[in-house]
Amino acid sequence: MDNVLVTGGAGFIGCNFIRYLQEQCPQSKIINLDALTYAGSTENLTDLPSPERYTFVEGDICQYSTIEKIFQEHKIDTVVHFAAESHVDRSIHGPGQFIQTNIVGTFTLLEVARHFWITKKEEAPQNTRFHHVSTDEVFGSLEPEDPAFQETTSYDPSSPYSASKASSDHLVRAYSHTYGLPITITNCSNNYGPNQFPEKLIPLMIMNATQGKPLPLYGDGQQVRDWLYVEDHCEAIFCVITKGKLGETYNVGGDNQPSNREIVQSICRILDEYFPNSPSHPHKSLITFVKDRPGHDRRYAMNIDKIHQDLGWQPRESLESGLRKTIDWYLNNGSWLSKVSQDAGYEQWLQKNYKER
Ligand code: NAD
Ligand code: TYD
Repeated sequence: MDNVLVTGGAGFIGCNFIRYLQEQCPQSKIINLDALTYAGSTENLTDLPSPERYTFVEGDICQYSTIEKIFQEHKIDTVVHFAAESHVDRSIHGPGQFIQTNIVGTFTLLEVARHFWITKKEEAPQNTRFHHVSTDEVFGSLEPEDPAFQETTSYDPSSPYSASKASSDHLVRAYSHTYGLPITITNCSNNYGPNQFPEKLIPLMIMNATQGKPLPLYGDGQQVRDWLYVEDHCEAIFCVITKGKLGETYNVGGDNQPSNREIVQSICRILDEYFPNSPSHPHKSLITFVKDRPGHDRRYAMNIDKIHQDLGWQPRESLESGLRKTIDWYLNNGSWLSKVSQDAGYEQWLQKNYKER
């Protein structure tokens, strides 16, 4: 891992991964290719441990020539591919960009990697790897009694987001089978932690609760997600990149499966403890049940035996400790929150798409 291309490194998981990788491999050079959409911000990368070994390129993963130039200039040996449109709600309002970035963008990256690593084999570095970061949502929804998703579970995506990620997973595997591209894939459950854009459940609830605004739970709030603290995800990806078998897929999850209602109540309980004199105390009084998301998946759960048994990874953070860290981070980074929300035109987006709130 001399020269690592990270795509989408200005987003939530990508920026946490870049910091993690710099701590683990101070000798690696990291090139971050990011289009700086509403979800990406250079504000996420102001505190890198080794800024001198980091290069930022603003560009689109759908642009072959941009990626080709990066491979040429930096002799890329490892790709860690995060860049994507990542929010299910936005994929319902406007699926087109999800098809473009998640499918066409992944295809374009694969084409450049194939060109440099396979076609021009004699010039390619020895230890090349294309790691694709994907989601548990490709497997669809579980009934209450169903066993957790395994790596062998059939794909059954429900939303335009999960369908586009499923397509990208298939493309990555096809490039391994057809061209021998050295790939690995991780399918991970819902992440939370520092630097997550406040449209996702946990930061949205922290932000609204501290501002005394309603906490909108979709439907009956009994949907279940398998929450993982972002640093645990970064460690899992690092394990797979350094020790994972080429061609393999690994499931990653938090072994934490509360309902949305339970998780929001936990956030409210912690905030009650921090702010006993808040006018919003008890914060759970802010919970409001709103119209359900169309096609809303009921339950996700990940079986993480393979990555545990083969690579020795397991999550370190409990939900309680991870939530406390996350809440502390958001409370201490109010200016980050205002800046990224403002730069992204988030308020306007909400007003346009959720008039009823
Ligand atoms: P994010 O939305 O926070 O960040 C995505 C980043 O990709 C942003 O910086 C954005 O600017 C960039 N980007 C978008 N389109 C681009 C393009 N065309 N070219 C270059 N850059 C582009 O997403 P995230 O939550 O950090 O997720 C990262 C990856 O992990 C995604 O592939 C997502 O599917 C996957 N994943 C996310 C979760 C989760 O809970 N957040 C869970 C499992 C898997
Ligand atoms: P989200 O963070 O959007 O992630 P994903 O859809 O990828 O799982 O949502 C997590 C869960 O929280 C999901 O079941 C939808 C629900 N949710 C709400 O109930 N209210 C909200 O305002 C949001 C954003 C999500």
